[in-house]
Amino acid sequence: AVQRTFVMIKPDGVKRGLIGEIISRFEKRGLKIIALKMVKMSRETAERLYEEHKGKNFFEDLINYVTSGPVVCMVIEGDEVVQVVRRMIGNTDPKEAPPGTIRGDYALSKSENVIHASDSLEKAQREMSIFFDKLDL
Ligand code: CMP
Repeated sequence: AVQRTFVMIKPDGVKRGLIGEIISRFEKRGLKIIALKMVKMSRETAERLYEEHKGKNFFEDLINYVTSGPVVCMVIEGDEVVQVVRRMIGNTDPKEAPPGTIRGDYALSKSENVIHASDSLEKAQREMSIFFDKLDL
């Protein structure tokens, strides 16, 4: 079924000049970018995005890192896109991510891992609504 998912290029991905490369991979795969914006997240927004990790030992570091510079947020549409994009991105720990995946090709650190994508349809809905108005989609 056609779905929509939320993807965010994290500050390390933006700083390292990987925006074009990453968007290009999604386009070449045949997925459609239906919304796109660069933002510098506030603490409040970052805490909302990552509320499920509140209380974990890496939470503070995670919030500091994702607010350290601009991120690029997008909504991507395609057949079974939630799972397809997760597979293109690779494991959270890039050391476990196979070559050919975005993290497997561009990252080594579990915290600075270049990109985020929603892991379910429900989360996709929630996360895209933090950054995009219904009218933008
Ligand atoms: P992401 O897919 O954006 O979702 C939650 C993020 O928390 C994850 O990518 C990692 O960047 C970060 N994260 C998860 N586990 C750890 C960990 N053990 N140490 C540091 N950061 C982590």
